[in-house]
Amino acid sequence: MSKKDLEGLVIPEHIGIIMDGNGRWAQKQGLERFEGHKAGARVFENICEYACDIGIKVVTFYAFSTENWKRPEKEVNALMELFRRFFARVNARESENEKKRMRIRYIGSRAGLPQDIVSLIDILESGTENKDGLTVNVALNYGGRNEILFAAKALAQRAAKGEIDPDKLTEEDISSGLFTAGQPDPDMIIRTGGEYRISNFLIWQSAYSELYFSDTLWPDFSPEDLDRAIIEFNRRNRRFGGV
Ligand code: FPP
Repeated sequence: MSKKDLEGLVIPEHIGIIMDGNGRWAQKQGLERFEGHKAGARVFENICEYACDIGIKVVTFYAFSTENWKRPEKEVNALMELFRRFFARVNARESENEKKRMRIRYIGSRAGLPQDIVSLIDILESGTENKDGLTVNVALNYGGRNEILFAAKALAQRAAKGEIDPDKLTEEDISSGLFTAGQPDPDMIIRTGGEYRISNFLIWQSAYSELYFSDTLWPDFSPEDLDRAIIEFNRRNRRFGGV
């Protein structure tokens, strides 16, 4: 399959991806779990490029959840090092980034992340904010409930100051308090690795998303697998609660 196989199909505007199966991929080949994350990071970059080529507008990747801190310290540190290197490398690669017109956004809680990673993210976000091609949201230290709580607290504070009337709050008020404010909701959520859960990922935004589960372990996920998901997306009849 290739870009040509998508001719005439609707390309989803926003796809959310839960990159699962790195650990199992590594274990299957007798490698340390971290090697799976390293391979997964290469696939992440490859899929970003492909998504940009085929005209997807936003891809949100679940890179590290608020629950992932419970993993062994060695694995957490190794993942942080991977994020650090990726952000630093993209910051140093401005011209290539320019060519791809990719905008990189961070979604998640900065609190609790190593300070140097927060600084790298800030530089990357401001350095790419004017790009109008693909937006890549990297969800790191992210939890969907936490995100909704954050939006609710901000609204409650404004209500307490008398700036807004709680009776007049709308769903849009919540949406615009989320990290994804201003972006379209995901048309499709893909989870690799053969698990069938959403795991606290974009739980408000995915109310009407098509869910696509793949048994492929994330380090084996290819542009052809993304094509398959898009073809399946086109087979589904989206009614948004209508008939
Ligand atoms: C889940 O697989 C994967 C993660 C917790 C980490 C995902 C991160 C990456 C793919 C790296 C992305 C890199 C950048 C630079 C954004 P798992 O470890 O739970 O796999 P398992 O279910 O097989 O154990």
